[in-house]
Amino acid sequence: MRLAGKTVFVTGAANGIGRSCALAYAREGASVALADVDLAGARDAASEIGAAALAMECDVSRAASVERAAAEALARFGEIHALHNNAGIAGPSKPLDETSEEEWDVLMAINLKSVFLAVRAFLPALRRTRGTILNTASMVGLIGQSRHAAYTATKGGMITLTKSMALDYAADGIRANAICPAAVMTPMLESWCDSQPDPAATRELLGRIHALGYCPKGDEIASAAVFLLSDDARFVTGCILPVSGGAELGYRV
Ligand SMILES: NC(=O)c1ccc[n+]([C@@H]2O[C@H](COP(=O)([O-])OP(=O)(O)OC[C@H]3O[C@@H](n4cnc5c(N)ncnc54)[C@H](O)[C@@H]3O)[C@@H](O)[C@H]2O)c1
Repeated sequence: MRLAGKTVFVTGAANGIGRSCALAYAREGASVALADVDLAGARDAASEIGAAALAMECDVSRAASVERAAAEALARFGEIHALHNNAGIAGPSKPLDETSEEEWDVLMAINLKSVFLAVRAFLPALRRTRGTILNTASMVGLIGQSRHAAYTATKGGMITLTKSMALDYAADGIRANAICPAAVMTPMLESWCDSQPDPAATRELLGRIHALGYCPKGDEIASAAVFLLSDDARFVTGCILPVSGGAELGYRV
């Protein structure tokens, strides 16, 4: 029960990594606010948790929606001890010059501006609880990825935001960290595989890129997230943690 007595606000909690994290936080004793544009999915995930969960509709790219969700979560739980910025979209598989201005703007708003909006909305509460911020970035925000320049830019931005926030809010006792998965078999990745020229070969490749030999589903990511939100990580801030099965390591044969 490493999160007993804590309340966590998780975005993108209806599916994939966010859902796995929300369920893991609840198993560790936390109350969880599950925010997503997919309200039905958030309700479904909340029903697996029970009374300690609150599902709410929230578009993380819109300030009014984020502020409304923050107010609703605070009204229900009284305090928030952790903000997990996880909602995101994969965006187009294209090099930069083929990316439209609209695709760029949508990606930036959902994947990056969302962090700014949520941190701004929750900072007074996080200052009261000396709470913590966790961002779901990506390994490609550190190492790059072909045909995904705009997406990788959002994740690289998230990584530097994490470090800068760790510095800015350390005096308030607020920690800020990020997790960097390589690939995780979630609804996002399933549809990304389907959009590739050879979906079966892409799925096979996603198993192989991880040195540990398989593509995880979400629990592996949630375990690292629990640690970073818990008091076990009380002296860990500005950490960009690969949860990647060694996908980024070295040359391979
Ligand atoms: N799956 C991977 O391989 C992988 C790897 C590295 C990083 N990530 C990152 O992990 C995070 C979660 O990805 P996932 O694979 O679980 O995706 P997913 O599509 O399975 O789940 C993402 C959730 O975010 C929600 N969402 C989308 N736009 C939203 C918005 N505007 N406001 C609120 N909610 C919104 C979706 O409804 C969905 O429930 C993303 O930030 C993604 O970039 C994923």
